[in-house]
Amino acid sequence: MKIVVTKNAVKKLEADILVFPFCSGELRKQAAGVLSDFDIPAHALKDFKAESGEIVLLYPASEGELASRVALLGLGDGKNYEDFRKAATALAAKVLSMNLERIAVDCSRFGTIADESKKRVGKLAEIFVEGSLSGSYKFDRLKSGKLDKKKEDKKVKGISELILRFDASVFADAQDGAAQGEITGSCQLMARDLVNLPGNYLQAEDIAKAALESGSRYGYDVKVLRKKEMEDLAMGGLLAVNQGSTQPPTFSILDYKPKGKAKVVVALVGKGVTFDSGGISLKPSEGMGEMKSDMSGAACVLASVEAAARLGLSIRVIGLIPATDNMPDGSAQKPGDVITTYSGITVEVGNTDAEGRLILADALTYAKQEYHPDIIIDLATLTGACIVALGYPVAGLFSNSDKLADEIYQAGISSGEKVWRMPLWDDYDEQIKSEVADVNNTGGRGAGAVTAAKFLEKFIDGHKKWAHVDIAGPAFLSKSGGKASGGTGFGVRLLIDLLKKWA
Ligand code: BES
Ligand code: MN
Ligand code: ZN
Repeated sequence: MKIVVTKNAVKKLEADILVFPFCSGELRKQAAGVLSDFDIPAHALKDFKAESGEIVLLYPASEGELASRVALLGLGDGKNYEDFRKAATALAAKVLSMNLERIAVDCSRFGTIADESKKRVGKLAEIFVEGSLSGSYKFDRLKSGKLDKKKEDKKVKGISELILRFDASVFADAQDGAAQGEITGSCQLMARDLVNLPGNYLQAEDIAKAALESGSRYGYDVKVLRKKEMEDLAMGGLLAVNQGSTQPPTFSILDYKPKGKAKVVVALVGKGVTFDSGGISLKPSEGMGEMKSDMSGAACVLASVEAAARLGLSIRVIGLIPATDNMPDGSAQKPGDVITTYSGITVEVGNTDAEGRLILADALTYAKQEYHPDIIIDLATLTGACIVALGYPVAGLFSNSDKLADEIYQAGISSGEKVWRMPLWDDYDEQIKSEVADVNNTGGRGAGAVTAAKFLEKFIDGHKKWAHVDIAGPAFLSKSGGKASGGTGFGVRLLIDLLKKWA
């Protein structure tokens, strides 16, 4: 989707549909004028309340020089950034379902709306572009027409162009915001594609390949550790999880360095389990296919490092992605096994389905030891227990730093990807004690999201600014009532928001 920001007159915009966004408060005053320009009677507005995402499609009486379709788009009361996102997403999804290719949106009043509600017009443009990209997303590359490259796909082409018309006075801000939104939005779509690819299309090697491609395209370094190197380094966590697989593991290291001196060094660690069967502690078959999304943390880290590079942020961002599937076979690790992780800490494997923390353990040790980062953040679809605690809209946050926790919480609010902090008190240590090893990878019934985080904490080796974000809930949505489903790319906007604040 090409994004065009223009100050051309609305009458000059060429598109399949011309969209007029309205806030609820200004609706009656403003909308009548728009309608009369198109020869549409004012009572067409009768049922339109301008709720966020509400769309009314109208057709001008005569086909003149203006677009043959007009849409009124509700923005809610205009006081809430997330209402703009919701509106843009709904609009793009609607236009996609109508098979239209070019949308033009009259954002002339965004300057006034921003002034009135103390918002930045650049941020409104940014969010509108992010939302439009998100709404225009569809995962159809595995449909036969798309798989067969020789067959021209004559069906849906998708939205090719989004034209946003702003007043000249705010044009520069709008253009800058739209450009940022395009980067964040497209990185998030890339993450969604990776999450949606099933296990037979995305193995550990494919994650490494995606990282290498991104690095060479956007000018940052990517190094991939293979199984042999992991054996030499004794990365016992990642190797143990990989034991039951026919596919070799990879450990991708992405390293974006700014031109000048880096303000801070941030390490991002993402869980890359390309498919989680549970291993010998096999999961029930119901819904197991959704475990193709168990590499959502990895996808988010890759997308965020790419975004940092594309935005040219003045910080160093290191992405660490341990990747493997978790499969049961004759050589798989067994419950009761004791493994030695990269750190030297021994782990009793109480449950082979608690595999994420084993691969993250090695990556966290590696991050601290090799890069001495100022900040370490890991993202993982780590526990079903986190879904029990917070449901699907919100991620769990754990941190040993109040300052970092607060920064991540705030980024959650401003990016619309919300997190809620949970405790890391030592009271929970009892649950992951092992009789035979240093620690157990399972903590029994209660507080499963917390005991998982407590486990990870053992591997940060006293680092003072670490956070763990459990995205098991928001990373992937099951289909419900025809609503959007699949990978969400959750965490990409959250991390980019954070990284920008540090840059
Ligand atoms: N990948 C799962 C967690 C998960 C569950 C993510 C549902 C998304 C949706 C993780 O590897 C896992 O299996 N965790 C176990 C841990 C338990 C065995 C201690 C869980 O949550 O049941
Ligand atoms: Mn598991
Ligand atoms: Zn898992």
